[in-house]
Amino acid sequence: MSSHVRILGIAGSLRRGSYNQAALRAAKLLVPENSEIDLFQLDDIPMFNEDEEKRPPSSILELKNRIRRADALLIVTPEYNYSIPGVLKNAIDWACRPYGESAWSGKAAAIMGASLGAIGTARAQHHLRQILVALNLFTVNQPEVAIADAAHRFDENGNLIHEPTKQLIQELLKNLVDWTRRISPAPALEATGVNSYDLTTSDHAGGLR
Ligand code: FNR
Repeated sequence: MSSHVRILGIAGSLRRGSYNQAALRAAKLLVPENSEIDLFQLDDIPMFNEDEEKRPPSSILELKNRIRRADALLIVTPEYNYSIPGVLKNAIDWACRPYGESAWSGKAAAIMGASLGAIGTARAQHHLRQILVALNLFTVNQPEVAIADAAHRFDENGNLIHEPTKQLIQELLKNLVDWTRRISPAPALEATGVNSYDLTTSDHAGGLR
């Protein structure tokens, strides 16, 4: 990974006036230096069908390529009936298949969400965190960005107008970028001048032998 951190942002709402899409656009403007957020829209993702997973539609190939090219993920979820919306879960499921060819595994991630209610997607985010464990994503724990009462935190054009929320998103993104750098693979050994035969490891799971 270069020192520039590329984050792929995905929001789990197809709604034109979506607060979660708006939160993701706000995040794009709040990233730390040496990092960027690209957006991926879920509008063209069909319903998952395991019969199709070995020859998926082009929108799925594009989704998986975009995830693979990213160093980290920012997933912004609405809360539907205390959980994440079907459109988001559907996209997550497509991109982890076929078995052994998941695009998600090993990447850093951060989550946030916006809702009209008082709890600001906290319950949906809790579910999402569990799902990301199954995907072997490494999710930043804090700060939790649960944007409650969204109708008053964004203006009529979808601009985030609540300063404390902006600061929280900024902090989350800084933690995501730091975390991504910490967990990313070290540069190739040839580049460091270290001879791999000089290195030993006590475990057999992830060592150099
Ligand atoms: C909701 N909404 C909602 N809000 C919440 O805080 N907790 C919930 O469990 C639910 N459940 C729920 C179910 C369904 C089917 C819908 C359509 C909506 C309201 C939700 O927060 C609101 O519609 C948001 O505006 C959705 O996010 P976007 O589309 O604005 O990003």
